[in-house]
Amino acid sequence: MPAMIVTGAARGIGLELVRRAVADGRRVIATHRPGPPSQALDDLAAAHPAKLRLMALDVGDPADVEGFGARVGEPVDALVNNAGVLLERNADTLAQTMTWAAFETSFRINAIAPLFVARSVLPLMTAPARILTISSFMGSLSYAKSDTTAYRASKAAVNKAMQALATDLAPRGIAVAVIHPGWVRTDMGGAGADLSVEESAAGVLAVLDRLDLSGTGRFYRVDGTEAPW
Ligand SMILES: NC(=O)c1ccc[n+]([C@@H]2O[C@H](COP(=O)([O-])OP(=O)(O)OC[C@H]3O[C@@H](n4cnc5c(N)ncnc54)[C@H](OP(=O)(O)O)[C@@H]3O)[C@@H](O)[C@H]2O)c1
Repeated sequence: MPAMIVTGAARGIGLELVRRAVADGRRVIATHRPGPPSQALDDLAAAHPAKLRLMALDVGDPADVEGFGARVGEPVDALVNNAGVLLERNADTLAQTMTWAAFETSFRINAIAPLFVARSVLPLMTAPARILTISSFMGSLSYAKSDTTAYRASKAAVNKAMQALATDLAPRGIAVAVIHPGWVRTDMGGAGADLSVEESAAGVLAVLDRLDLSGTGRFYRVDGTEAPW
């Protein structure tokens, strides 16, 4: 059975995507930052040794990303680019806390990495296959708010990169899309957010399952409707 890859699966939405996908009987490769996996991910792997493979991957390290596909070395039919960072909470364009370094890191992890992780695993994918990147409505150009500028800009950038990738991969029969997972109660989303990780992950996996060439190159909400770019 070809595997589904989920990046940044140590906690939050990524961990729940893995938990649910394994429970559904899928073969899953869950990546975590180099070093020991989180206890939750480790426990899950121990409970499902045949279904779940853990791999270390720093999505912000170009060499690690470039060699990732070769290390995976097995057929893949789905990639979920989930790993992400929100570094300068509430920092508008003029805030002293909105630094060059944090802006750069936001782009590295949120915008550049998803494209290069996809390129790394592409040789393992044969049609029909799917690439879904967890973006955010905060990156929608229709949403004119300035707080958390670096995060918003990085998500707008990944939307564009994935739209372009969708164009390039359509002739190969590989569908590509981005999704806003809702405002979710994770370390990033905070305790006051709208959705549980269970609700969000269920929606993300439903969109992933339905994704084919008829819906490639689109920006989805977690309920499967289309979001404005
Ligand atoms: N929560 C929300 O309301 C919300 C809303 C819209 C979009 N999103 C997006 O949904 C995705 C998941 O968010 P979340 O809420 O689950 O966030 P989270 O709880 O902060 O988890 C982020 C995950 O990304 C991993 N990660 C970060 N940098 C990494 C790197 N360089 N290499 C590998 N893994 C890395 C983290 O690993 P460590 O544990 O090692 O740090 C962690 O597992 C993100 O792309 C986020 O932007 C979230």
